[in-house]
Amino acid sequence: MSAYTLKVRRYQPEAEEDDKRGAYWETFDVELDPTLSVLDGLLQAKNDKDGTLAVRCSCRAAICGSCGVKINGQSTLACKTQLGEAAEEAARMARNGGGEAEIVVEPMGNMPVIKDLVTDMESTHWTKFRRVTPWLLPSGPPPEREYIVPAESMVDVTQSVACIQCGACVSSCLSMEADPDFIGPAALAKAYRFVGDPRDGQTTERLYDLANDPHGMYDCTHCFSCIDACPKGVAPMNQIMRLRRLAGDDHGIRDVNNGHNHEMAFVKNIKKKGTLDESLLLQESYAPGVKGKLMPRVSAIKGLLGSIPTAIRGIKTGKMRSVPKLIPGVHHKLPGDAQGHVEEIYERAEESKIQLNLYIIGEGGEEDHAAEEVEPESVSEEPTTA
Ligand code: SF4
Ligand code: SF4
Ligand code: FES
Repeated sequence: MSAYTLKVRRYQPEAEEDDKRGAYWETFDVELDPTLSVLDGLLQAKNDKDGTLAVRCSCRAAICGSCGVKINGQSTLACKTQLGEAAEEAARMARNGGGEAEIVVEPMGNMPVIKDLVTDMESTHWTKFRRVTPWLLPSGPPPEREYIVPAESMVDVTQSVACIQCGACVSSCLSMEADPDFIGPAALAKAYRFVGDPRDGQTTERLYDLANDPHGMYDCTHCFSCIDACPKGVAPMNQIMRLRRLAGDDHGIRDVNNGHNHEMAFVKNIKKKGTLDESLLLQESYAPGVKGKLMPRVSAIKGLLGSIPTAIRGIKTGKMRSVPKLIPGVHHKLPGDAQGHVEEIYERAEESKIQLNLYIIGEGGEEDHAAEEVEPESVSEEPTTA
């Protein structure tokens, strides 16, 4: 048994005391084995100290997805986080930044709080989830018996199937903080589950819909936060990138945010220059393929003009280089044959085209049994869609 202090963010909207009307912090001391979970700690505090402490849970085994919270600032499942590990992380944070080595537990982010650690999943998570039509839409008459699907095709969607709808990725999504209307990582990962399923007959329609929603797949800024947060290895960002590749490369869908062209502009820019040459980025995004001059298309001119305030903000905040360094031609070249190495990386990536899928490749380089049965090359191509 060890002693732990849980610092819990509380909110009791029905409280009668004035000091409890708004959100406040409360600490609870609990005594449990370090291998038990933060959820066990919260339940002990609820049983022994304050029965009004609200926390949502059911399975206590990382299966039902009910107990999503933030622990030491990281969105995760309370039942999957051991007290000992959480205390070590709290101590590390205290050493680095000062403050107390308490395990900090807060409700998930990007969602309204109903009470204490219980958030409203309906308004942000489930509404967006329904937005992507999360069921199969097969075309043609149903088969006499069941649909037969090649095993390789299903392997491709296993990662998104593993989602337990806990909302940890939604809670940690930085794009959703900036744009609450963003469809978000969980719903888009679920969208890939059906886009990648050969039984679905609406692949192009689904991709077109998600590409042309201004809050759709191109709203993701590729920050990796949802990958860090996901307790089931779904890697929502990877599923979003797969949707983008299918839409932009395979189906030739042009999106309302110019996201595909912008992405391709980065790819071309780095391949050619080795590091990002921002002076060419906007032009290449809006007038791809036209070197040094703007293609006289109204939409390109409008897009460029519309990006100017963002570019100015970027320069002011130091995210973009200052104006003199933005002049085309000022960009510094990589030393020696470094540029050749960059191009080699591109060639190898294009040759192998392996898409990492936890359930095929294994974690940390360890191949699992599925890897023996399914060669990575055989699942490296985009899924066959009906
Ligand atoms: S990678 Fe995209 S979807 Fe995932 S948290 Fe970042 S912005 Fe959100
Ligand atoms: S993708 Fe992962 S983090 Fe997001 S809801 Fe599903 S299981 Fe939870
Ligand atoms: S209680 Fe079910 S996932 Fe934590």
